Amino acid sequence: MIKIAIMGYGTVGSGVAEVIQKNAASITRKAGEQIEIARILDLRDFPNSPFRDRFTKDFEDIVNDPDIRIVVETMGGLRPAYDFVKSCLSAGKSVVTSNKELVAAKGDELLALAKANNLNFLFEASVGGGIPILRPLDQCLAANEVYEVAGILNGTTNFILTKMIDEGMTFEYALSLAQQLGYAERDPSADVEGADACRKICILASLAFGRHVYPEQVLTEGITRVTLDDVRYAEAWGGVLKLIGRAKRLEDGRLYAIVCPMFLPKNSPLAEVHDVFNAILVRGDAIGDVMFYGRGAGKLPTASAVVADVIDEVKHLDARKYLFWEPGEEGYVIDCRDGSDRTFVRLSCTDSEKAWAALNFSLPGCERIRAEGVPAGELAVITPYLSEQELENKLAALPDAQVVSRIRVADF
Ligand code: HSE
Repeated sequence: MIKIAIMGYGTVGSGVAEVIQKNAASITRKAGEQIEIARILDLRDFPNSPFRDRFTKDFEDIVNDPDIRIVVETMGGLRPAYDFVKSCLSAGKSVVTSNKELVAAKGDELLALAKANNLNFLFEASVGGGIPILRPLDQCLAANEVYEVAGILNGTTNFILTKMIDEGMTFEYALSLAQQLGYAERDPSADVEGADACRKICILASLAFGRHVYPEQVLTEGITRVTLDDVRYAEAWGGVLKLIGRAKRLEDGRLYAIVCPMFLPKNSPLAEVHDVFNAILVRGDAIGDVMFYGRGAGKLPTASAVVADVIDEVKHLDARKYLFWEPGEEGYVIDCRDGSDRTFVRLSCTDSEKAWAALNFSLPGCERIRAEGVPAGELAVITPYLSEQELENKLAALPDAQVVSRIRVADF
C-alpha cells in the first residue's frame, strides 16, 4: 500500500479524492499497489466528508510523516504552495500538482530539486485539464523537432466566447455562468485577462523547446475588451474569434510567445473547439500537425490527469521520470510587437470611403470586411503582414480615423 497526501481540498483536490475512492479497484490494478489517502491538508472543516478523519490544518503532519511517499498539491496559487512543494521534495516525497501558476513560475527550479533528490515532480493536469498533452509532447513526439505549439488553453474564456458567438450573450452573464459551473479560477480575472492561458503556454513552451519561459516574458492580452461587434466582424470575414496561446521557435533559436484574442479562419482546426473544451495544436517536422482535444477545466477532468500522474508515480517510485528543462534566459523570448502579423483593424471615421481610399494608398493589400449590425461609419480591414510599430505608423497617418479595436489574425 502506498500512502499519499492531498494539499488543498477545493474543486480539484476533492475531485482527486473522489476519483481515487470511486475507481479504487481499477486504480490498484493499474498502479500495482493500493493507494491510500493518509492526510488531507485544508484550513476549512469538512465534517460531512467521507475523508473527515484524515483532515489536518498542519502541513508538518504531512512533511514529517515518513510513510507518505507522494504529495498531491491542488491548493493553487504561488504561496504557500511553492514552500510546501519545496519542503516535500527536500523531505524525499515526490509531488504531483495541478498548479499551473507554480509550474509556470518555478518549474525549472522544482524540476531541478526533484532531480537532485532522485524524485519526480509531475504536473500533467496543469495544462489542458484532463487532456493528455505533456506526456505525449515529451514522449510520443520525442522524435520531432517541434517548431510551434498553439492552443485554446482556457476553458472559461472559450465558454464565454462561445456563448457570445452562438447566443449573443453578454460577457458578464457568460462569465457568471462559467463560475457557477466551476470552470473559472478563484479570481476570474486570471481567466479573462489571459494570465491563466499565459501560464499554460509557458509550461508548454518550456517543455517543447527545453528552456523555461516565464509568464512575464509573454505578451498577454485577455478578452475583456472583445465586443459582440468584433465577434460579428469575425463571422463576416468567415472566421471565429478565440483566445489563443502561441509559442513558435524562430530561426535564430529565440521564441515568439503570445496570448491574445485572434481571428481564426473557419477551416482552422482550432475554430471548431467550443464551450469549455481546450485544444492544443503541436507542429513537428516529422509528424506535421497533431491536435489534442478535450475538457480543459472542471473537477473530474482535472482530477483525471492528477490521478494518472499519481498512478504513474506509484509505478516509478524508485525511478526518475523524464520531464526536464533548463532555466530561462533574458532575451530568449522576443518582443512580439517586433513580429510580423496580419491584423484585424476597426476604425471609426466620419467618411469610411475616404478612409478606405487613404488606407489603400498607404497600406496596399488590405482586405475590407463588411458586417451586419455593427456601428455605422466604421471601416474594418484585415491588414497584410507587418509589425505592430509599422501598423501604428500607418494608422496614425490616416486623417479622421480612430482605432476602435485591433485583433491579430492566426495563420493556422
Ligand atoms: N480556469 C481554468 C480554465 C481552469 O477555465 O481553463 C483550468 O485550468
